[in-house]
Amino acid sequence: MPQIIIDGQRIEAAAGKTIIEAALDNGINIPHFCWHPALSVAGNCRMCLVNVGSIKRAADGSIEHDADGNVIVNYMPKMQIGCATPVADGMVVDTQSPKTESAQNAVMEFLLINHPLDCPICDEAGQCKLQEYSFEHSKGKSRFDEQKVHKPKRVELGPEIMFDGERCISCSRCIRFADEVAKQPAITFVQRGDKVTIENFPGTTFDSPYSMNVIDICPVGALTSKDFRFKTRVWEMSFNDSICTGCSRGCNTKVGVRDNTIMRIEPRTNMHVNEYWMCDHGRLTQYDFVNENRISEPMIRNSSGQLVNADWNDAYAKAAELLRGIKHQEIMVIGSSRSTNEDNYLLAKFAKSVLKTNNIDFVRHFNEEFGDSFLRTRDMSPNAHGAMEVGIAHHAHQGTSIDHLADKISQGFIKAVYVMDEDIAQIPNIAAVLEKVQVLIVHAHNINATAQKAHVVFASSTYAESEGTFTNVNKRVQHFTPAVVTKENERYMGMKMSRWDKFGAFNDRWTQGERRNSRMSWRIVQGVANAMNAQWHFKDSESVFEEMTHHVDGMKGMSYELLDEYGGMIMGRAGSPEVKTVVYESHYFKPQVS
Ligand code: SF4
Ligand code: SF4
Ligand code: FES
Repeated sequence: MPQIIIDGQRIEAAAGKTIIEAALDNGINIPHFCWHPALSVAGNCRMCLVNVGSIKRAADGSIEHDADGNVIVNYMPKMQIGCATPVADGMVVDTQSPKTESAQNAVMEFLLINHPLDCPICDEAGQCKLQEYSFEHSKGKSRFDEQKVHKPKRVELGPEIMFDGERCISCSRCIRFADEVAKQPAITFVQRGDKVTIENFPGTTFDSPYSMNVIDICPVGALTSKDFRFKTRVWEMSFNDSICTGCSRGCNTKVGVRDNTIMRIEPRTNMHVNEYWMCDHGRLTQYDFVNENRISEPMIRNSSGQLVNADWNDAYAKAAELLRGIKHQEIMVIGSSRSTNEDNYLLAKFAKSVLKTNNIDFVRHFNEEFGDSFLRTRDMSPNAHGAMEVGIAHHAHQGTSIDHLADKISQGFIKAVYVMDEDIAQIPNIAAVLEKVQVLIVHAHNINATAQKAHVVFASSTYAESEGTFTNVNKRVQHFTPAVVTKENERYMGMKMSRWDKFGAFNDRWTQGERRNSRMSWRIVQGVANAMNAQWHFKDSESVFEEMTHHVDGMKGMSYELLDEYGGMIMGRAGSPEVKTVVYESHYFKPQVS
């Protein structure tokens, strides 16, 4: 392995790596704009200029020293770009000397000549590389007295993306992403010199299912999301690590929240799952069901047939009373591939040990058209594997399957249905017979047709309000934490909330936002089980997970801590996790999670 010295630090670098890669592997961040670890090297921004040389040796190979005894380094006459210069044994790299600093200052001054002072109205402000580097690597003043070049400021490059020509620093990241990752070469540079800008090729638009990733990797605010533009400042949000629930890939995400409302979802790097990316569907469809149309209190159907708000204990007692009136094998329990492993595990345990029924299954959400050869899978739910592994699958119990449920209801064999976080009324043959069910108990976070027919409705928390795990298409178990506060998890959230939310007074505008009276589904199941004399005492999601690691084979040896440390673990392989990788984030998330 080549040995190189960066800023006096001796490091080993894998052959073939560039200086910027070798430095990053060793925790040294060389400033850069156009380089991105997943894209080809363009070498056009020059921000990564470093002083490169080699140790001077005498004819006999011995190292030469100056009069003060310092090793003499032969620096190359011109500075080199770290992103395109491969490491070589004995290389000396300096990223901090006055010469390097003056090169960085010069590049910054050049880039800022035509860059508008848009920060006060720019979505990128607070997470912008150009802004950060202006503090770290710039003189802070301009010698440019002339008129800045003006370019188009609101150009639609695709259905989700707006382009601001004046903010663009021509790094070409977006062009390379479109060509190399999204495989939709729809954008390019046009013009030359200070007139250069980005345009769609004639007759095209950048409408790839992955188009919005260019917004994240654009190092400035030139590419903004039509969905997110001007909604909030970056520093007003708190960010929590989460998992996308749009399909079974389980892309790692960061959820940005303000006023207890999800404002933005972005990919979080996990080289074993989604690398640096996520799809537009995952980004745009996740938060509507968290922010809107919620059931925020438990409800019981009263004697006049109306669903009315109820106390949690009354709702548990009512559900228990109704279920007690039905024979064991006349009860069907429906889990959910959209709920966590913890929820499904406890539901399966409830079915087996309390309700004593083996009629247990879940609804599949396959969509062949959604899947592709990159990230998106045909299973549009995050946890089908997990649901099966923790015990929600009819074949494991030889009971009634979801496919036969409608017939069994019609024939009077199933009289009670307990549904966790699924809208089974969307399945036409089940919807047609649902009225015949004597007892319908539903966990739901949104108002839906199944909940409207239920006798007891439990207000369940969405994934964004829950802590738990999902098991993805490759059987990787991944842990996530709540981003949105409910009455149940408020104390738990503690310091995870953003500064604005946390330190504002109750009458400050930014502390507004509903604290819903919803609960995680496993806790609801525990409530009903205990109302039927189960005496379970799981105090948090982690304690449920801990029990799972003793009963679910593939989860042996796992813990939330290890899942966080390794970015998830494959079922059955907790003893031999994959090597941890260096995490590269393109822009800054402020404020950080804790
Ligand atoms: S729009 Fe952004 S990503 Fe694209 S070239 Fe300009 S600065 Fe780079
Ligand atoms: S590929 Fe699937 S998991 Fe990833 S962002 Fe898209 S919908 Fe979400
Ligand atoms: S990062 Fe090296 S030239 Fe842009």
